[in-house]
Amino acid sequence: MPNQTPATPAAGKNTLTVTDNRTGKQYEIPIQHDTIRAIDLRQIKVKDDDFGMMSYDPAFMNTASCISKITYIDGDKGILRYRGYPIEQLAEKSNYLEVAYLVIHGELPTKAQYDQWVKDIMMHRLVHENIKKLMDGFNYDSHPMGMLSSTVAALGTFYPDAKNIHDPASRKLQILRLVAKMPTLAAFAFRHSVSRPYVYPDDELSYAGNFLNMLLKMTEKKYTPNPVLERALDILFILHADHEQNCSANAMRSVGSSHVDPFSATAGAIAALYGPLHGAANAEVLYMLDEIGSINKVPAFVKEVKEGKGRLMGFGHRVYKNYDPRAKIIKTLADQVFEVTGRNPKLDIALELERIALEDEYFIKRKLYPNVDFYSGLIYQAMGFPVEMFTVLFAIGRTSGWVSQWQELLTDPEQKIARPRQIFLGYDARDYVVMGKRT
Ligand code: CMC
Repeated sequence: MPNQTPATPAAGKNTLTVTDNRTGKQYEIPIQHDTIRAIDLRQIKVKDDDFGMMSYDPAFMNTASCISKITYIDGDKGILRYRGYPIEQLAEKSNYLEVAYLVIHGELPTKAQYDQWVKDIMMHRLVHENIKKLMDGFNYDSHPMGMLSSTVAALGTFYPDAKNIHDPASRKLQILRLVAKMPTLAAFAFRHSVSRPYVYPDDELSYAGNFLNMLLKMTEKKYTPNPVLERALDILFILHADHEQNCSANAMRSVGSSHVDPFSATAGAIAALYGPLHGAANAEVLYMLDEIGSINKVPAFVKEVKEGKGRLMGFGHRVYKNYDPRAKIIKTLADQVFEVTGRNPKLDIALELERIALEDEYFIKRKLYPNVDFYSGLIYQAMGFPVEMFTVLFAIGRTSGWVSQWQELLTDPEQKIARPRQIFLGYDARDYVVMGKRT
C-alpha cells in the first residue's frame, strides 16, 4: 500500500492523525463508522485567517451525505437488502405494496397494518379531474417522463397542506398520495400518447394489476390482467423500490432539503431518473440492441465500446462491482414472461453481449457486469410497453424509496439544506470594461 508508515503512538485509537507538511502541525481527527467528518478538516490551516481545508469529491465518489437505515448494498459481494431483508426473499415472497410499507415504515406490516395500508393506497389512487386537462395539453408524442414529472409537480398545487413537512401526519398523507397516484399519472400519460380515454382505478385489482388495467383496458366491462405478467410487473416494482443514495434519491434529498413540498421534490427526482446514465438506461439498452441488429454484429459493437465509441448500456454501476443481484432475478423472471408473451428476439443479442463482455479483459478489469436495466427492458417490451414507458415503470417502483429517503432526511437532526462547497479557480477581481474597449 502506498504512503503507509510504521504504527504511530496513537495506534489502536479510533482516530486519524493528519500531518500537514506545509506547517508540520498534526491533527487528530475522530473516526466513526470508518468515516471522518469533512468538517473536521476545516481546522487545518496555514494561517489563522485561512478558510481551512476542504475535501474535494466530484460526483460524491467517496463521500457519505447521510446516515441511513433504509437500504444496504455491498457492491463487491452483490448484496442488496431493504431494511435488512435480502432482495431475493422479498422478490420471491412479498408483493410491492408490502415492500413499499417496509421501505417507508422500517418494518414489515402486521396483517392489520397491511390491510389498512392497502385500503389507504386504494383510496388515494384517483387524481383531481383537472390533472386530465393538464395531460391533454401535451403533444401526442410528448415523452411520458416529461409528462410524469410535470404532473407530479402540478399535483402538489392541489395539496397546499403538503407544505406542512414538519407535521408527521401530513407527511404520512403526502406519502400515501404519492405512492398511490404515481401509477394513475403514469397510465394517464400513456393513454394520452395513444389517444385513448383515461381509465379509472379498479378497486378489485392489485397495485400492479390495476396499473395494467389503467393502461390497457378497452371496452370490456372488466379488465382481467394475466397473472404471470401482473406478478412480473409487481416483482419489477419491488426490485426498483429503493437503491440507497443513487442519483434520483440524492436529487430527492437535495431538493427536499430546501423544505419544499414532497411533490416538487419528487418531480426533481423523476427528472434525475430520466437521464440515460440512470433510469433511462433501460430504454437505451433497447435502442442499443436495435442498433446492433443481429448476433454476428456483437463482437464489432463490443470492439467499438472498448475503443471508447460509446458505452455498453445496462452494464456497469457506481456501487456494484459484481453481478447486480436485481439483474439475476430479472433474468429468471424473463423466462416466465416470455412463456406467456413469446420470446423477445433481442434476448439472443443481449445474451451474446453478456457472454462476450463477461469474458473480455476490458470489462473484467473495470468490474463491469449487467445491471438492473440490462434485461428489464426486454421484459417490458415483450409485455407490450413502448420503450418510452420503461423509465416511467422504474419511477413507479422507486417512488416508495424516494419518499422514504425524504422522510429520513427530514427526521435527521443533523441534516440541513444541501449546499456543497466549490474550489474557485476563476478570475481574480478585475474591472468592468465598456463594450467598445473589449478585445
Ligand atoms: N460500457 C463501457 N465502459 C464502461 C461502462 C459501460 N457501460 N461503464 C463504465 N465503463 C468504463 C468507463 O469508461 C471507465 O473506464 P476508464 O477507467 O478506462 O476511463 C470505467 O469503466 C469506470 O467508469 P465510470 O464512468 O468512472 O463509472 P461510474 O461509476 O462513474 O459510472 C455508470 C457508473 C452506471 C454511470 C456507468 O457504468 C454507465 O454509464 N453505465 C451505462 C449506463 C447504465 O447502464 N446505467 C444504469 C445504472 S443501474 C440503474 C440505475 O441506478 O439507474
